[in-house]
Amino acid sequence: MQKRENWGSKIGFIMAAAGSAVGLGNIWKFPFTAGDNGGGAFVLIYLVFVVFIGFSIMLTEFGVGRSKELAAVGAFKSVDRRWTFTGVLGVLSGFLIMGFYPVVGGWALAYVFKVVTGLLNNPALIGDSFNGFITNPGLPLIWMVLYLILNVVIVVKGISSGIEKAGKILMPLLFGILIIIAVRGLMLPGAMAGMEFLFKPDFSKVNGSVILAALGQAFFSLSLGMGCMITYGSYLSKKQNLVQNAAIVTAMDTSVALLAGIAMFPAMFAFGIAPTAGPGLVFVVVPTLFAEMGALGPVFALLFFIALTVAALTSSVSLLEVVVAFLIDEKKFTRKKAVFSSATIMALLCILASLSIGGLGPKLFGTGAFDIFDLLTDKIFLAIGGMLLCIFAGWRLKKKDLYDEITNNGTVKFGLFGVWYALVKYVIPVTIAIVAINGVREGFASGSGPIMVIGLVIIAIFAGISKKL
Ligand code: TRP
Repeated sequence: MQKRENWGSKIGFIMAAAGSAVGLGNIWKFPFTAGDNGGGAFVLIYLVFVVFIGFSIMLTEFGVGRSKELAAVGAFKSVDRRWTFTGVLGVLSGFLIMGFYPVVGGWALAYVFKVVTGLLNNPALIGDSFNGFITNPGLPLIWMVLYLILNVVIVVKGISSGIEKAGKILMPLLFGILIIIAVRGLMLPGAMAGMEFLFKPDFSKVNGSVILAALGQAFFSLSLGMGCMITYGSYLSKKQNLVQNAAIVTAMDTSVALLAGIAMFPAMFAFGIAPTAGPGLVFVVVPTLFAEMGALGPVFALLFFIALTVAALTSSVSLLEVVVAFLIDEKKFTRKKAVFSSATIMALLCILASLSIGGLGPKLFGTGAFDIFDLLTDKIFLAIGGMLLCIFAGWRLKKKDLYDEITNNGTVKFGLFGVWYALVKYVIPVTIAIVAINGVREGFASGSGPIMVIGLVIIAIFAGISKKL
């Protein structure tokens, strides 16, 4: 068998996996989702899910990927054809997430230029300017396509050369700027109310939807439940410590999300922006904050949006890579053909998603494409994908094989192996099932129920035709 291409170094792998995890999910999605779901209690539930479910599933994905040395679909298929659908579901998730992620990536890219061309000159207009921009039918499409082209260029070049380099350079920069924003925001009068909103749990705000949103956020932010970390793990060398890698990536991702929250909420409360301001949050709060900082403001804002774009890129290339690896490994495409054909489909989905923000394009149960893609993946496919992976690992794979893989044949100490195994085999599948059922039921009150049910039906159909996939 041909030796599989490997990551250049340990730090290279961590940076790439953390690069996949840290992205728009942390900096754009986490703050506004926390805002929409009442703040503190949501954040606490999210953290509990990250520690118990997120970390365990990340370890499982790394282990399954490395043991099979195959990307998502192949890893399941090589064990049991009946499980192929779990991998294929991941590929579908990849398409759907890439059906809206580049839209937001395009906004980030556009803001790099908007900052340079004087966005900060008139702080009062920053909010209106954002709404005007994203609801414009044409302009965001140009930026989305530019953003998607950047992805194509990186992924065509293959794994270690492209993805690894991008991650190493700009992640620390992003972290640094977020700290500056957070410190600056915390110094504003009235900022503490933001910290309170974010960290003081008010459990009266918790219901099935909030819990499912927290679960979805944990999966989305950690890049789990669609085979992304299986694919990355498949390129990982047999010598690496999987437990440590999973712990580091989980910790890095979660600290960036929390830091982004601390950067956003105090400033928002100080400026009187409502926590439920929605997807525009970072695009309004960050420029407004920097606009008040004098000459240095635009410089920091520029660095922020460059870093945000790069963080988004290192995430979206990992999504694209899942789809591409599937087409190369299973459908025998060349890398070039795989990248171009999948990016074309993603561009079409993104056009629908982008138009839907301005109220244009087709709707399903009153929901536009952007929200449909988000709902299906974030609320259903990722969590159920994670649940299926756990059932696969816990009930289909052998405990001894898992032990050998995760401990590198006993050479790595992992005292909590038994706890991890019990979580994967019993606790996580049951928890996800309960959270999903309650969330979908609650979804019928808010209008998202029917779409989520469609998601479940799609999974059932995939399971039914699995052997043909
Ligand atoms: N985690 C990334 C973010 O936070 C997005 C992402 C990349 C992702 N790969 C994924 C989400 C796989 C779910 C599954 O921006």
